[in-house]
Amino acid sequence: MSKIKVVNLVGARPQIIKASAISRAIKHKFSSSIKEIIVHTGQHYDKELSQVFFDELEIPKPDYNLGIGSARHGKQTGLMLSGIEEVLLIEKPDCLILYGDTNSTLAGALAAVKQHFPVVHVEAGLRSFNKTMPEEINRIMSDHASTLLFAPTNAAFKNLIAEGFKPENTPPYNVNNPKIYLTGDIMYDNSLFFSSLAEKKKKHLLEQLSIQANEYVLVTIHRDINTDDILRLNTLLTSLLMLAEETGITFVMPLHPRTSNSLKNNLEELNRKLLKNQYIKIIPPVSYLEMTFLEMKSRMIITDSGGVQKEAHFFKKPCIVLRRETEWVELVKNGTVMLADADPALITAAFNFFLSKGSTLEYPAFYGDGKTAEFILKEILMMFE
Ligand code: UD1
Ligand code: UDP
Repeated sequence: MSKIKVVNLVGARPQIIKASAISRAIKHKFSSSIKEIIVHTGQHYDKELSQVFFDELEIPKPDYNLGIGSARHGKQTGLMLSGIEEVLLIEKPDCLILYGDTNSTLAGALAAVKQHFPVVHVEAGLRSFNKTMPEEINRIMSDHASTLLFAPTNAAFKNLIAEGFKPENTPPYNVNNPKIYLTGDIMYDNSLFFSSLAEKKKKHLLEQLSIQANEYVLVTIHRDINTDDILRLNTLLTSLLMLAEETGITFVMPLHPRTSNSLKNNLEELNRKLLKNQYIKIIPPVSYLEMTFLEMKSRMIITDSGGVQKEAHFFKKPCIVLRRETEWVELVKNGTVMLADADPALITAAFNFFLSKGSTLEYPAFYGDGKTAEFILKEILMMFE
């Protein structure tokens, strides 16, 4: 059988991480049947948001880097759409694999569906039911342009059915007759694969940061609602500063450049206070192994990230989410994620609850067996049998 050709599309940090699981499975299990072409839109371009993951997760160098970079939504998505279309017309792949919900995902989905290349959407069906989020629009549009949709949770699978996708569809699959699957979560593949390596390679990190295992809180903030609304960012960081001072617990914050720029440019005085404070450690974004290690050794995680919420669960850490809603609803139902929006009272209540009850919580296996990438690739191959 001749090899099928798949384009593996990445753009933003979490997609590079997710794509690495597919890339690794192709290399180890499917190299005789699948040829991979990696396309990077260049949405994330700083070394610490992009190259560091290629190096650490041993992802092959992209065959194409479109170098699009940062811009307003329309311009960024439009430039990516045009660039991806050109690559697809040159490569003529059998299908395009997309991850999640970023502008790179949407651009890939539109470019491929309009040129009649089958779209494979990994992390399909997630919904926040809040269409003011750019990610919600990106996900809905990408799902409805897809031929194979891999939903990572029951809730996501049900969302697809509620939008008219039919689980009973039979082959041959195409965009008018798509196939939906309930799989595990591809990020779990990576967390399982890399956690012992993180433990081995990053064991000096806590010492370097002068923190102790199980005695610090790990914080990430990067969503536009939290970074671009200055009042909200001020409320969030002031609440965290207060909690750190009141409890003497250290808060480690690897900040996305979007957040550190907003803090520096708009909240100078608060920024100075945070930098001076003995309990607050603002650091640049860290590598995947460093992040994994920091998550594994933390006492609690506070975040607005989708991926970090799940990793908190993988490593059995309670997690406060600085949003009004989450796509990972099973975590809230389980009581191990609490939604605190940007409300100081909710943040404080969740923090105190998790400090006292943290060790009694349970973390059921919601996200599969760590072999999601393999499952996806097998199903892609079946489509072309
Ligand atoms: C994007 C995704 C978001 C995802 C996040 C993961 C969209 C709409 N948003 O958000 O869903 O959760 O990635 O991290 O696709 N910047 C840099 N260096 C870089 C990249 C960006 O400094 O390498 C700064 C720029 O000022 C840029 C800002 O971050 O304007 C926002 O970048 P962008 O890629 O538009 O969105 P993210 O906030 O990263
Ligand atoms: N991550 C990382 N370094 C950091 C912050 C996050 O390696 O400094 C990883 C994290 O472990 C997870 C992914 O990035 O695997 C989540 O990406 P992000 O929070 O940027 O986006 P989201 O998941 O919200 O789309």
